[in-house]
Formats: sequence, structure tokens, C-alpha cells
Amino acid sequence: MARGGNAVGLDISSGSIKVAEVNYGKQEPVLKNLSTIMLPEGLVHEGEIEDPEAMSGYIRDLWKQGKFSRRKVVLGISNQKVIVRPMEIPYMPEEELETAVKYQIQEFIPIPIEDAIIGYEVVDEYMTGEEERMQTILLAVAHRDMVQKFMEAVGGAGLGLEAVELKSFAMARSLIKKEYQFMEEEAAPPGSVCLINVGAGICNICIVKENTPRFVRMLMRGGDFFTNFLIDHLNMAPAEAEEVKRGVSMSEEANSLLQREIQAFVNEIRRSLEYYISQTQERDLNRVVLSGSGSKMINLPLELNRGLKLPIEIGHPLQNVTLGKFPYTPEELAEMEASVAVCIGLALRGTEE
Ligand SMILES: Nc1ncnc2c1ncn2[C@@H]1O[C@H](COP(=O)(O)OP(=O)(O)OP(=O)(O)O)[C@@H](O)[C@H]1O
Ligand SMILES: [Mg+2]
Repeated sequence: MARGGNAVGLDISSGSIKVAEVNYGKQEPVLKNLSTIMLPEGLVHEGEIEDPEAMSGYIRDLWKQGKFSRRKVVLGISNQKVIVRPMEIPYMPEEELETAVKYQIQEFIPIPIEDAIIGYEVVDEYMTGEEERMQTILLAVAHRDMVQKFMEAVGGAGLGLEAVELKSFAMARSLIKKEYQFMEEEAAPPGSVCLINVGAGICNICIVKENTPRFVRMLMRGGDFFTNFLIDHLNMAPAEAEEVKRGVSMSEEANSLLQREIQAFVNEIRRSLEYYISQTQERDLNRVVLSGSGSKMINLPLELNRGLKLPIEIGHPLQNVTLGKFPYTPEELAEMEASVAVCIGLALRGTEE
């Protein structure tokens, strides 16, 4: 990562676009700019862009509004057209790895390799009982046509791409405290952390161990699911349903219906964690860090605490940056903080220039 430049993180989410610009000086990264724009319903569906041209318009408006100085962005992606899975592969030098990965993956990806964009990170290295040196990589395979739509939308707004990254990887940079991120392995805090971002349409889960993401899961459910559920089942107006989620409704029927659905959601998250634990024999998963505005739903932290039997912390994605001059009051910034973990994490990836 170069020093001195600016990096911009672009998070195109279901309900809004969020952008953060970070300046890398000699000291801590400085958050120079943070801006969001609401999106109409349906423009982003399950994390994919439905209409790239319309999306370009919103990105252009946001650039005018936010006065960002840089036109190259780090873009976050999270949807069902990206498959993330671990893969065990014999140890080899980095230059040989890319070819070996491409050769080996065809059998377990559901699309022809020429229709896929492939990324991976080495997350672990170990010796087998037969003294064979192995490595675990976390492989991400994205459908080219899905990524293409993001590129069209970004390009149509007059911007370029610096990098494309999984939203889950990005949030690990903002939600885990920096002094932990750069510790030597032996000094790393014990155990793993489960990051959970609940948005409007998607829940991103990422388990981070020794500062490296080890497991990524996306659930196609977020805060809007609960709003729609209340609207459909109780014939509520959207604003009324939002009130139930915020915990300010007196309707007992609505509150208990919401509680039941939250419990079902927590069970779904629990099954993901159990899968990870069964695959890795992890014994040290010891806390959850929550983010995303959907996670502000009444009782969600409590139900997660009960269902996962883990301590729940509310994430602070502003913790790893110094704040620049903002047009926001501290209260506005505190309100925004829940929803900016991804865009800040993307900007914290830094710039290659
Ligand atoms: N105070 C609150 N209490 C409960 N829910 C809230 C609150 N504030 C916002 N929400 C819900 O949070 C959701 C929006 O969260 P967020 O901005 O993180 O989503 P998004 O990033 O647009 O979507 P995604 O990441 O899923 O694509 C909406 O469902 C909204 O109803
Ligand atoms: Mg989001």
C-alpha cells in the first residue's frame, strides 16, 4: 500500500450507495469524506445491479454531492453470483499458484472458467501427517456478467476501478481494531471473531482468525425482509412496520411476530457458524461484532447472544481512521456509523499508486 495517496471505497448496497474517501498521510489514515445516496427499491436486487445505466446516474449524483477528489474506486461485491469456498492445495511459490488454482477449480465451479473471474487469498499453511506442506486458500469465483454490470455502472459515471473486493473482506478492515490487525502472529488476540453485517437485503458473515478472513457466507436476508414480513402478515403500512423494528410500537402482535422471525434468522446464522465449526474444528470462536443498519433491529443483539451463546459487540467502523472535517454533527455521524463498515473497509484497502 502506497503512502500519501487517497483511496475511495464504493459500496453499492440495496437501499443506498455509500462512499468513503481516505487519505494516507504519514500517520493514521484520515477519513476525508463520507457520503451516501438513497436508491429506489429494486435497482439493486439481492446484491446485483438490475439497470447499470440508471445506477450510473445515482453514482454521478453522489460524486457531485460528496465532492470526492479521486475517480478510481475500490468496489465491494456481495451476492449469489460470487461463490466463496476454501480449497486445500499443496504449497507452491506464488507465481505458480494462479495457474494451479485455475487448473484445479473447474471441477467444482458451476460455470465455464471463461465466464468466471477468479480471486483467492492464502489463509493458512500447514504440514500433513505425511509431512506434505499444504496451504489453505479462500477462493472467490464471480460470474463475469454480474461484475460486468458493476463495471458498466461505474464506467458510465465516469469512474474507474482500482480493485474489486468481497464486502466481507472489506468489513474486516474497519470492524477489527487496527492494533490487532497488524500484530505479529504470536501476539494476536486469542480466538476468532465473527463479523455480521445486516443490511437491507443481505446479511454478510465473515469469520476472521489471526487477522485473516477464513469463512464467508452471505444470507439473502436483511432488514427489509422483516419490514415486508410485517406488511404482508399484518397489513401494516411501511412506516408502521419500521416502527416495530425500531422498538417503538405498542402492538403486541407485531412485536411478537417480529421476535419470532428474528429468532428464525438467528437460527440461520447459527447453522452457518456450526458449519464452519464442523469443517474446521474451530474451538475459539469467541465473539461477534455486529454492523449494518439492519442490525439495529430491536432485540437482534439479545437474540444473537442467546442463539449463538457468544458475546455481541456493536461494531465501530470509524475506529481505525482519524476523522477529517465533516459536514455532519456527532449525532449524525453516530447514526451513520452502523452502515459504513463496508465502504470504509474498502477505502482502507489503500491505493496501489
Ligand atoms: N434504527 C433502526 N432500527 C431498525 N432497523 C433499522 C434502523 N435504521 C435502519 N434500519 C434498517 O436497516 C436497513 C438498511 O441498512 P443498511 O443501510 O445497512 O442496508 P444496505 O447497505 O442498503 O443494504 P445491503 O447491504 O443489504 O445491500 C433497512 O432495512 C432499514 O429498515
Ligand atoms: Mg450494505
